[in-house]
Amino acid sequence: MRPVPQTPYLTIDLGRVRTNFHTLRAALPDARIRYAVKANPAEPILRLLADEGAAFDVASIGEIDACASAGIEGHLLTFGNTIRKASELAQACARGVRRFTFDTEHAVTSIAEQACGSSVECRIAPAFPSSVTPFGHKFGCAPAEAAGLLTRARQLGLRPQGVCFHVGSQQLDPAAWELGIRCAAPVFDALGDLTTINVGGGFPIAYATGAPELGRVADSIRSALTHHFGANPPQLVVEPGRVIVGSAGTIGCEVVSVRTGTDGRRWVYLDIGRYGGLAETENEYIRYRLRTGRDGDPAEDAAIAGPTCDGDDVLYRRYPLPVTLRPGDRVEIDEAGAYTASYASVAFNGFPPLPTYFVNSAHTGGGPGREIVEPLAPGITRNWSLSEVICEAHTEFQDLVIGRTDQGVALFSDGERQSTAFSQLIYHEALLVPALLLADRIERVLVIGSGEGVISQLAVSAGAAHVDHVDIDREAVRLCAEYLPYGYTMDELRRAEKGLGPITVHYCDGWGFVDRSTASYDIVVIDPPDERREPAQHNRLYGAGFLERCRNIAGVVVAQAGCPTLWRNTSLQWSWQRFHETFQTVVYFGSDEHEWAFLSGLPAAVQDPIAAMSARLPTLTHRPRTIDAESLVASTVPPKSLRAHRLVPARQPPPAR
Ligand SMILES: Cc1ncc(COP(=O)(O)O)c(C=O)c1O
Repeated sequence: MRPVPQTPYLTIDLGRVRTNFHTLRAALPDARIRYAVKANPAEPILRLLADEGAAFDVASIGEIDACASAGIEGHLLTFGNTIRKASELAQACARGVRRFTFDTEHAVTSIAEQACGSSVECRIAPAFPSSVTPFGHKFGCAPAEAAGLLTRARQLGLRPQGVCFHVGSQQLDPAAWELGIRCAAPVFDALGDLTTINVGGGFPIAYATGAPELGRVADSIRSALTHHFGANPPQLVVEPGRVIVGSAGTIGCEVVSVRTGTDGRRWVYLDIGRYGGLAETENEYIRYRLRTGRDGDPAEDAAIAGPTCDGDDVLYRRYPLPVTLRPGDRVEIDEAGAYTASYASVAFNGFPPLPTYFVNSAHTGGGPGREIVEPLAPGITRNWSLSEVICEAHTEFQDLVIGRTDQGVALFSDGERQSTAFSQLIYHEALLVPALLLADRIERVLVIGSGEGVISQLAVSAGAAHVDHVDIDREAVRLCAEYLPYGYTMDELRRAEKGLGPITVHYCDGWGFVDRSTASYDIVVIDPPDERREPAQHNRLYGAGFLERCRNIAGVVVAQAGCPTLWRNTSLQWSWQRFHETFQTVVYFGSDEHEWAFLSGLPAAVQDPIAAMSARLPTLTHRPRTIDAESLVASTVPPKSLRAHRLVPARQPPPAR
C-alpha cells in the first residue's frame, strides 16, 4: 500500500503553480517576474519557476541557499529585504547576488562597502491603503527622499537602477499600485537614467472573503504607467509571491476535538493552528476557506483553534462550520500554498513543521498526474484525473484507490468509481429512501456491501436501532473509514466492529450471511459494485437465488440495479427481470442526478406503492436532502423500454440461480 501522510500536511499542485505564473505573465506581458521566495521556498516550485524564466526575490541567506540548491544562479536574485547585516550582504555578494534594495543611507553605505558595483533599487513607502497583511511603517523611505539616496548610491560606486515599492500583501485596492507609480515618477525625472520600476507583490487571491480580479490590478498598473511615464515607461518588474503559489496549495488536516467552551460556545480544535503554518490567521487577517465532508449539513458559528497549548493559537472566533462535525473528520483548507509551510514553527509544543507533498494536476498540462480510465460499456470509457492518490491498496478482493478529483475525494474499486464526495449523498439516498418509504417499520436493517458506511448511517438516522452491515472486504471498509470524508469515521467503525451498536459490522460473505440468517429484517439493502458480464465474485449477490433468500428474511429488499442509460442498461434489464420473478411488488427509482437505478421488492402485492410512499415521505425521521415529493414521483417511473421489457434480454441470460 502506498504510504499516506498523516495530517496536517500541505499539498502543492505544481500544475497550478505553472498556470498561475502563465496567468500573471499574460496579464502583464511586459513585466519581468521575480518570484518572492518567502511565499513558498520549496525546491520543486523554485525549479519550475526557473524553467519558466522567472527571476527571484530573496529575503535572507537561507533563501539564497534555497535558490542555489534548486540550481538558480546568483545573477537571477534580488536581495529585496532591506533589513540585513553587513555580514549577510557580504555573503550574498560572495554567492553572486548583485542586486539589492535599500531604504536608508546606512543601507546604501553598507551595500557599497560589502557589494560594491551592485545594482540598487530604492524602496519608497507612500501612504498606501491598508492591505490585508499591511507593512505599516516598517519599510521604505518617504518618496521625497528617494532621489537623494539614489544619488548618494551612485557617488559610492553603486548602480542606481530604479524605484521599488510594495503595496502590502493581499492588497484589495487596485488603486494602491497607481499611487506607488505616481510617487515613483518624480524620482525618475530627478535621476534621469533609472531603468526599472518594481511594483512589488501584493496581488490578492480569493480567500473566503473574495478579492478583485488580477485583471483589474494589471489594468491599474498599465494605465498608471502610461499616465505617469507616457510612451516610454521603464522596465516593469513585479515581485509576486501569494498569487503564484497561494491557490496551488491545500492543507489537509483533521478535527481533534469539538466541545462547548466555558463561554458557552462551540469550539472546534484542528490538528493545525497558528504555529503549524496558519500564521496569517493572526488578527483573522486571512480568512481561509475550510471544506469538510459534512458541508451541506446545517452550519453554525464556531471558534476554531489549533492544537498547541498557547492561548493565542486561535484561528477564528466565529466561523460557520457544520453542526455535525466530529473528531476525526477531515478538513481541507483551500488557497493555502503561500505563507504556510514557510511559516510553520520548527517544534513549538513538539509539533513538527508542516510537510509538503507535490502533485501535478494532469488537466493543467503540468505533467504526469494519475488517470483512472473507467470502463462504462463496450467501447466507452470515462477518464478521471486524480490530482492526488490518497490511498492505494490491493486488497484480497479488489484494487482500491481513494484519490482527489474535481468532484472531491473519490473511491474507485477495480477502476470503477464507487462514490465521490460530490455526489455520494444523491446515490445513497436514492438507494435507501425508497425502501424506507416502503417498509412497515424501520428497526432492523441489513446492509450488504456499501463499504463507505453511508447507508448504515442513513438507516440509523431513519430510526433503525439495529443495523447489520456485511462486507467481505475488511481492509477496504477500514480504508474508506480512514480516508473518505464521508461515511464511517474510524471511531464509528471501531464501535461497529465491536458490535457496540446501533451498527454492527460483519466481515464475511453476504451470500453466506443471508443463507445462514435466522433473523428477519425490515429492510435488506444490497449494494455491491455493478454486476459484470464476466465472472466476478460479487455477481452472486445479483442472482435470483440470493434475491429469494433476501426476500425470505426481509420486509423490503432494495438493490443497486444498474444504469438506465441506453448504452449501459443490460445489468438493469437483468435485475428488472429477476425482481419481477421474485417479488409481487417492484418499485423502480432512477436517480436522474446520478446514473444509477435501484429496485425495491416486496413479497406481497401493494395496490399503489408510489401513493403510499408519497404519503409517508413527510413522516420519515431521516429528512432526505436530495429527494422531495416531486422527485419521488418522477424518479419512480422506469424508462419506457424497461417497462416494455419483461423478457430475458437476448444478449445474455441472467446468471443461473
Ligand atoms: C519585498 C517583498 N516583495 C514581494 C513580496 C511578495 O508579496 P505577495 O506575496 O503579496 O505577492 C513581499 C511579501 O512580503 C515582500 O516583502
